[in-house]
Amino acid sequence: MMQERLQELQEEALQKVSAASNLKELNDIRVAYLGKKGPITEVLRGMGKLSAEERPKMGALVNVVREAITSAIEEKQAVLEAEAVNAQLAAETIDITLPARPVNKGNHHPLTRIVEEIEDVFIGMGYTVAEGPEVESDYYNFEALNLPKSHPARDMQDSFYITDEILVRTHTSPVQARTMEKHKGQGPVKIICPGKVYRRDNDDATHSHQFMQIEGLVVDENISMSDLKGTLEVFLKKVFGQEREIRLRPSFFPFTEPSVEVDISCKICSGKGCNVCKQTGWIEVLGGGIVHPNVLEMAGFDSKKYSGFAFGIGVERIAMLKYGVDDIRHFYTNDIRFLKQFHHHEA
Ligand code: PHE
Repeated sequence: MMQERLQELQEEALQKVSAASNLKELNDIRVAYLGKKGPITEVLRGMGKLSAEERPKMGALVNVVREAITSAIEEKQAVLEAEAVNAQLAAETIDITLPARPVNKGNHHPLTRIVEEIEDVFIGMGYTVAEGPEVESDYYNFEALNLPKSHPARDMQDSFYITDEILVRTHTSPVQARTMEKHKGQGPVKIICPGKVYRRDNDDATHSHQFMQIEGLVVDENISMSDLKGTLEVFLKKVFGQEREIRLRPSFFPFTEPSVEVDISCKICSGKGCNVCKQTGWIEVLGGGIVHPNVLEMAGFDSKKYSGFAFGIGVERIAMLKYGVDDIRHFYTNDIRFLKQFHHHEA
């Protein structure tokens, strides 16, 4: 009877082991058949009733059954573990053929691009790029440019003063004075200077309290107005195309004499009039002129030997015209939808 019972238990256990589909089930089977409360332990308990001859036989049989079940479980465990590892490997496979997620690429700000483009034009004409501080002394921003204190023309550029003697520069012209000083009276000087400038203007479609200029300065012997005109014509046609019209008007700057204001025909309205050109069909893009002898002398140049021309380009106006932007504030509000439009211009 006991023998049969053991045989049955073995068959039953082996069947369950082979049907087990995961490690948890297998462990449950181990506990159920081989644990202290399992049927085999129960059989062992019943051995007390057996005769002294039968007892060792039965003991040996119990061991055989136990070992059969144990080794079946071990084998199955090895199989299930291997399966688990394989399943995990399959689940964690990296598909290297998947296309990569797109990387969002930034691009240069339109003003930076315009500055670089203009720099390239002038570098091509033999200029070098100079720099100067944005926080400037009253001396370089005004006095060295023939604008002594209380000169009425100071009102042309409403300034942000930090102290009585220090301000944020209202134009890039102080770099003229600084550069000439460094040359110690020796020509030639041939520079452009791009940079930020600041004025107490109310912001609107064409004014910004912070904007950019590119200063140009050439000092040498026999420099005349025709050199300035020819240079600006080459520059403006290169940036805007040969078909654009250019207009020079007499103007006034304390640091140049004579002075001119240079206009370019409005690209946005083709001369019909719009809010960028203030209904005139023309947009002022720069001011310039022949360097005033006082400015040369103050910077240490002999104005009898040397002469020069200077100009200041409004970078935003150039950018607005070139890209058809109708409000200067777009350059400073940094709306990503605006900035993204300049992606495809990237060289
Ligand atoms: N600095 C002048 C301005 O900001 C422009 C200018 C530069 C004019 C050089 C003449 C010569 O308006």
